[in-house]
Amino acid sequence: CTLPLAAKAQATTAAAAGAQGSTAKRAFPIGFVWGTATAAYQVEGAVKVDGRGESIWDVYAHTPGRIVHGDTADVADDSYHRYPEDIALMRGLGVGAYRFSVAWPRIFPDGTGRPNAKGVDYYKRLVDALRTAGIEPYCTLYHWDLPEALQRKGGWQNRDTAKAFADYAGYMAGQLDGRVQHFMTMNEISTFIGNGYGSASMAPGLGLKGQALEQARHYALLGHGLAVQAIRAATHAKTRVGSAEGINAAMPAFDEPEHVAAARKAAVEENAGYLTAMHTGRYTDLYLKTLGADAPKFTTEEMRIIGSKTDFQGLNIYTGDYYIAADNERGYEAVPFPSSYPNMQSSWIQFAPGAIYWGPKLMAEALGISDIYITENGTSSTAAPDTQGRVLDTDRVMFLQQYLGELQRGIADGAPVRGYFLWSLLDNFEWSRGYSERFGITWVDFATQKRTPKLSSRFYHDVIAGNAI
Ligand code: NOJ
Repeated sequence: CTLPLAAKAQATTAAAAGAQGSTAKRAFPIGFVWGTATAAYQVEGAVKVDGRGESIWDVYAHTPGRIVHGDTADVADDSYHRYPEDIALMRGLGVGAYRFSVAWPRIFPDGTGRPNAKGVDYYKRLVDALRTAGIEPYCTLYHWDLPEALQRKGGWQNRDTAKAFADYAGYMAGQLDGRVQHFMTMNEISTFIGNGYGSASMAPGLGLKGQALEQARHYALLGHGLAVQAIRAATHAKTRVGSAEGINAAMPAFDEPEHVAAARKAAVEENAGYLTAMHTGRYTDLYLKTLGADAPKFTTEEMRIIGSKTDFQGLNIYTGDYYIAADNERGYEAVPFPSSYPNMQSSWIQFAPGAIYWGPKLMAEALGISDIYITENGTSSTAAPDTQGRVLDTDRVMFLQQYLGELQRGIADGAPVRGYFLWSLLDNFEWSRGYSERFGITWVDFATQKRTPKLSSRFYHDVIAGNAI
């Protein structure tokens, strides 16, 4: 080589920088599942088509003052009719899996009784079209659209609802047996109980407190456990059953052994009413002590059912909570977010990529979970079409880049995460925020139903194609 020494040194530095910079990617495991997620009520529309019954969300959304701008999901993304187009979008992305949910009121319009064949057929057509496209269907059986007929009998405050759910879940899983291998019983029990029965910001908007709220939570958990058993009984042995729970993802304030130990304890106790109970079949002593007279009434048999063995755990992770070690009964202290802490468009999504590193890792360690899927992760963004019709959502790209980087690091450090489902494929009905918050990597013009992939869609495509970040 004839380069002078100084120039040689410079060239070497540039090459090294290049290697660590834009071209250096870190791989995900071979066979890692890449997917996108949606939920029936948020995308399907067609609320009165083919014999679908009314759900608590139809009633809630049509109650004045409940939803931003008075939006409803009567049409939403019209995916009930446009699913072939949505599947084509997924093919373009290169995803290998799609997480969708079944609307209970399409299958049993009154919650129980005679099944509605037209509703069942719709989901058979959907999963067949997915499989033909080479996309594996992951099916959630309850994503919050409880049949209104059951709400009139008390909804999750009534123990019979748990039984009705198991009957529906077993029936539907049996109908899809052989076409779907992965079933999730429920989506985010913590949210539909906390916000629907507790704070009233979601359907059915009850605003319960104390023991009544705890009892509803307990019956929802019982519904999960009974459904696990019903799905197993109705399907062949290779079926895999789990749930998708929104966790309190505990993170140490920084990576130091005593704070990591504190976050691990918090992972167990702060999820004691949900994941911890579902994976251990018991409520922790501290949980019951803290609740005191508000504790739910339960039997040993119910706890055994709630702890029914599952095959995987889905975790919906958007943000987390910081913990430090503390000299108290719990051994940890939650650190509130300072007002200057950065967050995304949705006020509840603090930017905390560490949540997807620590959440699965600590949950798996503390509860002995061997297979985890990130069943939701993503963010809303205010990015809208520019003059050329492009949606350049750099905030979402940045968010995904950072979270996926932390997920890769977590897996490399032993977190048993087998797949990732980005929320969401499409802009859709964001519950009480209506259409004012867009979580899609595809822009949806709700006036015309035209779909336009955003910049983040291109980004996700490249991650999947390279199986690396
Ligand atoms: C969790 C819920 O499962 C989903 O329905 C919702 O749209 C996203 N979080 C974003 O808020």
